Parts: sequence; C-alpha cells; structure tokens
Amino acid sequence: MIMDYKKQVSQAVNKAIDNELSVDDIYSKIERPKTSEMGDLAFPAFALAKVLRKAPQQIALDIVDKIEKDSFEKVVAVGPYVNFFLDKSAFSNNVIKNVLNDGSNYGANDDGKNGNVTIDMSSPNIAKPISMGHLRSTVIGNSIANILTKNGYHPVKDNHLGDWGTQFGKLITAYLKWGNEEDVKKDPINYLVKYYVKFHKLDKENPELDDIARDWFKKLENGNEEAIKLWKWFREVSIEAFDKIYDKLGVKFDTYNGEAFYNDKMQEVIDILNGKGLLSKSQGATIVDLSKYDLNPALILKSDGASLYITRDIATALYRDRTYKPAMNLYVVGSEQTYYFKQLKAVLKEMGVPSAEHLYHVPFGLITVNGKKLSTRSGRIILLDEVLNDSIEIAKKQIEEKNPSLPNKEEVANEVGVGAIVFGDLKNEKINNIDFVLEDQLRFEGETGPYVQYSHARAESILRKAGKTEFNDNDYKLNDTESWDTIKLLNDFPNIIKMACKELEPSVVAKYSLRLAKAFNKYYAHSKILADDSELNARLALVKSVSIVLKESLRLLGVKAPDAM
Ligand code: ARG
Repeated sequence: MIMDYKKQVSQAVNKAIDNELSVDDIYSKIERPKTSEMGDLAFPAFALAKVLRKAPQQIALDIVDKIEKDSFEKVVAVGPYVNFFLDKSAFSNNVIKNVLNDGSNYGANDDGKNGNVTIDMSSPNIAKPISMGHLRSTVIGNSIANILTKNGYHPVKDNHLGDWGTQFGKLITAYLKWGNEEDVKKDPINYLVKYYVKFHKLDKENPELDDIARDWFKKLENGNEEAIKLWKWFREVSIEAFDKIYDKLGVKFDTYNGEAFYNDKMQEVIDILNGKGLLSKSQGATIVDLSKYDLNPALILKSDGASLYITRDIATALYRDRTYKPAMNLYVVGSEQTYYFKQLKAVLKEMGVPSAEHLYHVPFGLITVNGKKLSTRSGRIILLDEVLNDSIEIAKKQIEEKNPSLPNKEEVANEVGVGAIVFGDLKNEKINNIDFVLEDQLRFEGETGPYVQYSHARAESILRKAGKTEFNDNDYKLNDTESWDTIKLLNDFPNIIKMACKELEPSVVAKYSLRLAKAFNKYYAHSKILADDSELNARLALVKSVSIVLKESLRLLGVKAPDAM
C-alpha cells in the first residue's frame, strides 16, 4: 500500500487546530523543506493567522504543543513553520516493501482506463535522411507511449511517413535525368537526396524542370505504372534505411500509415467539407475559412486539384477517430508546425470530428549537434546514423578504459552510446532548444544517461558482491540519515509517473532518475552498505529497490540499463 504522508500530516494538523482549516486546505499548503535536516514536510502557519488572530509563530508553537506526535519522529516549530520529521523506520519499511513487491510494476496506475491514445511520431520523409528533429520526435514519442502505458492508457504509435506530395514529381524527374539504379541500391538515401538537391539547384534557371515534375506528380496521382513503380521503390529503400535506425534506438511502431495511405480517403474529406458548406474558392484554390478562429484559411486543394499536406492530415485524423476512438490524438512534431496544427484542429472541429477536442500538438524545440544545424536541402547534413555511431565509438573507448574485462563490451557500448543520446535529449523540457555536444552526454559523471546507467550497474554490483538475490525478510526498517533522501525519492516515484503523464513530459522522469542516482551515490559514499550488522538485509533491499526504480525510469525513457559497465 502506498502511503500518503502529506495526508497523514494534514490530518494531524487539522486535529490540532480543531478543524479551523479543512484537511484538503491544509494538504494544499504543505511544503517540502529544502533539505531533510530541516524536516520532511512543513506546514506554514501564516494560513491560520487571520482565522485565529494570532501571530504565525505563536500558532506554530501551539500546534506543536497539541499535535499527536506518536506517528512522527519529531515535530518542531521553526519560526512560522511547523516542521515534521517522519518516522524513518516505518516509512522505509513501507516503501521498500512496495518496491520489492511490485518490481518493475512499481509506480503504475490505471488512470487511463485502457483508453487509446494515438501518437503521431517520427514521421520522416521518404528519400530524405532522418533528421535530428525526427530523432526527437521518435524518442519523445516513444517515451510518452511508455509513460502512457504505465498510467493505464493504450498507446498506438503511428509513423506518419511523408510519402506523398509534389516532391515525388521532382524526385522522379531528377532520378530519370541523372539517376543510376546501382547507386540507389548501394546507398539509397544518400543518392536520392543528391538528385533532389541537384533538381533544386537547377530549377531556378530551368523552369521547364518544374513543369515536368508537376506532370510526373499528376501521373503518380493518376496511377501511372512507371510513376508508381519508382515511387514504391523509393519508399521501400527509404523505409529499410529508417528501420535500421529505429532498430538501433529500440523503437517499434504499431502502424506505418504514411500520407499515401490516405489517398483513397481524400474524396470523403472533400465531400464532408462540401456537405457542411465549409469550402470556398480563393484564387482558383479550394480553402476552408478559419477567420472565426483568428487563423489564416486552410488550403485544401490547389488550383490544379492536387491535395496538400493538410488534406491528408484531415483524412488521417478522421481515420484515427473512427478506428481508435482515441481518448487523445497526439502529434509529436517540432514547434515550427504549431500554427499548422492549430489550423488542422480548427478544420476538424468545424467538421464535427469527435476527437478534435482531444487533438494535441506535442511540440518540441530545435536540436543542433556540436553547434551545427541540420538541413536536407542545402546538403549540409549531419546524418543521425553517424551521430549514433560516433556515440557508440566514444562509449566503447570509455568502457575499454574503465572496465577492460567486461565480457559483453560491444553490447554495453551500444546501450551506453545510444542511451547517452536518447537521455541527452529527454532530460530537457521538450520545448527547449538543445545543442548536443556528444562528449558531454557521454560522461559517466554529471547529468547524463551513462551516469544513471552507471548508478544502476553499481547497485547491481553491490548485490552481486553480497550474493543477495532473494528478498523475503519481514521488515526493512532503516532510520539512518544517510539513506533517508534515497528512501524518500523512492516513495515519490508513483507521483512522478502521474506528473510525467499529465504534462506529457519525459524530462520529469529523466530529472527524477538523476536525483535518485545522485542520492544513491551519496549514500554509497557515506555509509558502509555491506557492513555485517543487523541492518544489512534492509540496506541491500534498499539497494535492490534503487536498482529496480532506476532501471524502470530508464525503460520509460527508452534507455537500456546494463547490469555491469
Ligand atoms: N513528415 C513531416 C515532416 O518531416 C512530419 C509529419 C508530422 N505528422 C503529421 N501528421 N503531420 O515535417
């Protein structure tokens, strides 16, 4: 049973002041002192000064006088505050038992009532490399899915591939002019990008290129055999390349319903919009007016009748609405598309799509690597694959230095190298811009993934040394001050899970794991965990609990936790 210690304190205060303030009111005012030395929870007596017509300092003293102190270690007045020191033995016993009983399930809840949550994530564009932006979408989306599951939801991870649009007319044109089958087979994305970049270099002086490209896209839309064949091929080789990266990251999708999946679902969108009288013409194009939302009109069809990105997104949202009846429909997409998603939501609301109310754009900031921006058109590309490989190389070197006799070095280097990048991203509030300095993210000390991984491995190594694998003791009472912060943090985990879900914010979990790792390392440095005394088993149970919660935190972020490194 998870204990709510804030509630316990609130009830005690409520009794001591003869119900002058309700338990809920008191609960909302309880604070956490900065350090454990000052107490574990504090009630500020200011709140009662008006009602009781007394100085807060005096009220604090009166409360201490009257309060039932049996269930606390001590209760003291410090100025206007009543500081509570919790009963460490009872508290630690309770928390450790909870963690050991629940194992990796510790902290889970069923708030989501198994409701579906569609998560539009990763969604790179065919024939272009996955950018660091797509990486952010992939790892943020993946972690949000894990967090949602832990909160009782059923996430559906959909990779909304950019596999349709006028750019395919350009790509086909470019390939037929300058392309070579062997090259594309060898290194698909690299060559396809080259053709595309060349097209954009030349089309300014050769406007006829654009006409040819438009023509090819028309053919593609009309099902021309050659156009379809090339498009399918580009799509296939691109997905193969993407999958290699997803494999490295350990991310799986439930569906790969790209934009093209909705081609045959577009007419219905137009019909519905028409039926509701939402379409109008503007300079030959077909639009939905959104002035009532204070937004620019949404361009639904070009003057040549071609559909657009938003047309396909409307069909997508409609399809998700019908297929999953989602409790939430999330789009993990960079903040540069914020305005666009406002328009999308507005159109869907006008159409009366039920889940439109629960459509949320989950934006994130820009990412640069070693100060360099990523761009696919200019050709100054930093390939994600290269960044991952570099990171694994650095991890390999570090392990070689620190632990040369480790048997599964390759595997661990992969887990540390990839984990460093994923963690380095997720520890930031997602809306922030981040600059990635690889070496910094790979340090074993500091606010890094490897630091948390290392702390988990340290816990496992202590348990190996002690030869302790089974925990079935009667109690795990600890009342020393060294272990106290770690124990309190373990107790916070279920709330952290809820908060991360409410805010759709993996950084809540990442920052928590850093705090727990730090507290645990301090504990390790200041006490003899393996000393042979009566509390040895309780201490080892605490170490096991830390290991479980660190590993589970990392899993929620999509980061592996090796047992030794
Ligand atoms: N392919 C798009 C891009 O790379 C992202 C797609 C986001 N998802 C969506 N349903 N619009 O910018």
